[in-house]
Amino acid sequence: MEYCASVTGDNIEQYLNRYEVLVCSLRPSRIKAKQLAVVELFFVLARFGGIFIVNGPLGDAKGLVAFFVDRKARASLPDILKTVGYCDKYYLLDFSPQSASTLSDIAGANKQVWKGMPFSARLFYEQDREVYESHSSHRREFHIYTDDGLVKKVKGYRGDGTDTGKRALPVEDARLMVNLADPHQAKVLMDPFAGSGGILHAARYINPSLVLISSDCDPILEPGLQAYADRHYPMDARAVELDGAEIDALVTEVPFSANATNEVAQAFIHLSRFLKKNARVIFMCAGHQYNRLKQCLETMAFHCFIAKPVNRKGTDVVVSVWYRCGEQAKRLRDFRLQAGKIY
Ligand SMILES: C[S@@+](CC[C@H](N)C(=O)[O-])C[C@H]1O[C@@H](n2cnc3c(N)ncnc32)[C@H](O)[C@@H]1O
Repeated sequence: MEYCASVTGDNIEQYLNRYEVLVCSLRPSRIKAKQLAVVELFFVLARFGGIFIVNGPLGDAKGLVAFFVDRKARASLPDILKTVGYCDKYYLLDFSPQSASTLSDIAGANKQVWKGMPFSARLFYEQDREVYESHSSHRREFHIYTDDGLVKKVKGYRGDGTDTGKRALPVEDARLMVNLADPHQAKVLMDPFAGSGGILHAARYINPSLVLISSDCDPILEPGLQAYADRHYPMDARAVELDGAEIDALVTEVPFSANATNEVAQAFIHLSRFLKKNARVIFMCAGHQYNRLKQCLETMAFHCFIAKPVNRKGTDVVVSVWYRCGEQAKRLRDFRLQAGKIY
């Protein structure tokens, strides 16, 4: 299977006969996280014959990455592109002879020839800003317990402001992390530090048939997480017993406090017994936690697929993807090496 393509003047026509060229534009908030964006698109587009173009057109324009996608998939693309975290606008390139004279839609794109082939770019799909807003932590509905034990509907629940209780994962990061878990192959996804459910909410949107499991030690969150997940454990993740369920993907934003890092490592070790043999672990942690958590996963013989820093409005975090099965990581080695070269 071809995962990435290096296009030359000799092979370009072969590719253009079979594929559309989809140019994807990164959200301004994540413009510096291009490698993660490429890996996300790689998993999202895999079902549509997606091939990452290593030396794509418009490569010198900021925040653009290009993929070949199967021509037959064109009509189904918007349904999947709406779920992407780090890119929000998509262009298709037109290489027909008459297209060369048309103006391009991509602002700042001044090169209209690729490997000797003239083209124009047309906006194909743009995510709905209103949908994005309605998924964000300040707009989506959540339920918490009040001090007197009643269930209260809240919007914008962002935690109690303490170091371990902050909850406001941006929609783009929640979608990214779910997509990195290959959510159309996975059946069961667990978030052990679920907070106000940003990852569960994104997972339900991306693939409604996923079985979602959550835990969080804060009892206030129980009604909200019960509504978002198929099964919620209102307890310390280190004590969860899954009664037969096997997890394909552990996807989580861990508590960022330095005091919590060892607890998180212990939770990963505890939960590893419920992971399938080809499971993935995708987590976001604070920059200062990464080495400790990396060491924990390496001790359990997990294989790192990618680990990249992201700046979340001034907070330095790391997003990383780990495979339990070395063969899976090896299969995608070439793609990983190519994706690692882009800047
Ligand atoms: C960074 S927040 C997760 C935010 C979440 N991604 C969201 O979208 O709201 C981390 C969560 O971990 C929970 N937590 C901390 N220690 C825990 C533990 N040992 N077991 C389970 N949950 C824990 C906290 O209560 C908090 O809700």
